[in-house]
Amino acid sequence: MPLAPSPSELTLTGRRIVLGITGSIAAYKSALLARELRRRGAEVRVVMTPGATEFITPLTLATLVDHPVHSDFTEDQDAGVWTNHVELGIWGDLILVAPATANTLAAMVHGGCDNLLQAVLLSARCPVAVAPAMDLDMYTHDATQANLKTLADRGVDVIDPGTGPLASGLVGKGRMAEPEEIADHVAARFAAELPWSGKRVVITAGPTHEPLDAVRFLGNRSSGKMGFALAEVFAKQGADVTLVAGPVALSTPDRVRRRIDVETAVEMDEAVKGLWGDMDWGIACAAVSDFRPAQTSNDKWHRGEVPSAVELTENPDILKGMGEAKQPQQKLVGFALETDSGEQSAMGKLERKNLDAIVLNTLMDDGAGFGHDTNKVRVLFQDGKSVSFELKSKYEVACDLVELWRTTITP
Ligand code: CTP
Repeated sequence: MPLAPSPSELTLTGRRIVLGITGSIAAYKSALLARELRRRGAEVRVVMTPGATEFITPLTLATLVDHPVHSDFTEDQDAGVWTNHVELGIWGDLILVAPATANTLAAMVHGGCDNLLQAVLLSARCPVAVAPAMDLDMYTHDATQANLKTLADRGVDVIDPGTGPLASGLVGKGRMAEPEEIADHVAARFAAELPWSGKRVVITAGPTHEPLDAVRFLGNRSSGKMGFALAEVFAKQGADVTLVAGPVALSTPDRVRRRIDVETAVEMDEAVKGLWGDMDWGIACAAVSDFRPAQTSNDKWHRGEVPSAVELTENPDILKGMGEAKQPQQKLVGFALETDSGEQSAMGKLERKNLDAIVLNTLMDDGAGFGHDTNKVRVLFQDGKSVSFELKSKYEVACDLVELWRTTITP
């Protein structure tokens, strides 16, 4: 079973890639590339030129991508079944030709249509990337360089070959980039197209637990689901997300770059203080305990030893601290859970904590707030405007919120 990508790795979840393989010895690396693309979550279809099938068998690739390989214009000549090259070009989010021989690059420049891959390339509607592989003199030849330039000018993404020993025995530039590098390049390209790409976002989520004794704590019923849903949506849309999570039973959403687990409000405050200066956006979704026991016991309180009263002391207001340190280019959003309609109280928090927006959910609404998989929210802005949403799943609410903030709070 393929290993899952690590959270820090650029993933390709849900991406559709048509992998074109041409006749070069580097075709053996295409098997590793196909596996790497799949490991990162991409769906892959393979188109091989007749030359490529002399270097590596279609069966190898078909097994790795779990789908038959296309290499002929016809699927079943006797029955007259043909391979729909137009469909393949429409299906893909990207056509990646790796390795791309000098011959295929030349055919791409001139609109050649001698084999299925060239037909797919001619009818493609999606972006195209090529990873050239050839011998040193072929690579440096004026014709090849001119072809690469023409392709790059047309918007084809050229993934530079590496330098090293070549199959001919020569040493120089021309060997295909390594499969991991190609996968990184392709994933970075997809990430750069996303609306939140390049934005660093810190999200606090979940409750805090304030210890009373060695085993007991003061806490609240927050599940962390809303904050984790936001982290998932931001990350899917290309943001570089750091999640600071209180004690929750949730796994880190796909593509979230960093997760810091904390227990108490003081720990959460310290984590956020260390991060906030480098962030573009802060989303305070955590249900932070406003107070903690003034004294805690390292032992467990036994019956008969339990204090008759517990003195409480105030915790730092994490969001207020972020608001005070906020730079003009930084954007900050808070949440307010109120037991009544709460508009006035939420507006007070928005001003006091120097926020760009506050998301209000009230326990008066069924299905909103702690413990539910749904939420019903209203977003209030500095200028007094507000936007209300219907009761939805927390994931859908997160989609609405992330899009609303992007379109209303300008950087
Ligand atoms: N918050 C925080 N640190 C705290 C308390 C709250 O960062 N110690 C953040 C929450 O994550 C939320 C917002 O502040 O985004 C509002 O939290 P809330 O508890 O409703 O606000 P308070 O200012 O504590 O007001 P009150 O408890 O009086 O309603």
